[in-house]
Amino acid sequence: MNSIEKAKKKIREIISGSSIPEDPTHAENTLNWLLKFEPKADQALQIAALAHDIERANEKQKIKRKDYQDFDLFKQAHANNSAKILLEILEKCGVTDSITKEACRMVAKHEMGGDANSDLLKDADSISFFENNLPYYYLREGWKESKQRAAWGYLRISKNRLNIVRGITYEDKNLFDLVKQVTQEADSDESFFRKNK
Ligand SMILES: [Fe+2]
Repeated sequence: MNSIEKAKKKIREIISGSSIPEDPTHAENTLNWLLKFEPKADQALQIAALAHDIERANEKQKIKRKDYQDFDLFKQAHANNSAKILLEILEKCGVTDSITKEACRMVAKHEMGGDANSDLLKDADSISFFENNLPYYYLREGWKESKQRAAWGYLRISKNRLNIVRGITYEDKNLFDLVKQVTQEADSDESFFRKNK
């Protein structure tokens, strides 16, 4: 097994132990969306897609929402912490410095994007949130929190990919209505997100 395969195996092992039930499928689903958007995504980006939320699997070190008043600051701390944990894994597995550096840089930028590759990861992650995570999130957090989270997530997606979210359906009628409300309000009013932050 080469160093990259070893690293991916280790990442999957760690995430399979997350107490958040949607985390393992979210990692794979984010990678799948990334490869749909960019079939030639390099190894650094693929590793980043799998590992971007890895800190959530670490009960002792994970960043807690209650410690942050601002949701963006919470998310950035989460991204930085995941990058830090990933760095240790990739170094231990003997992954080259250049791939290690780039994968960690992508993970640190996955919430906000800012360049072509981190935008791809941000979109793959955001769409996977709607497709994979939101049904779990809704059961756990309820209507109000889920609506705020969905609006925040919808805002992050590049405009040309918003139609993917509009096409996702949910078995739960209330959740289906929630996402419909978010997308309709957002699509009809650009300032919606600023008001709902
Ligand atoms: Fe994620």
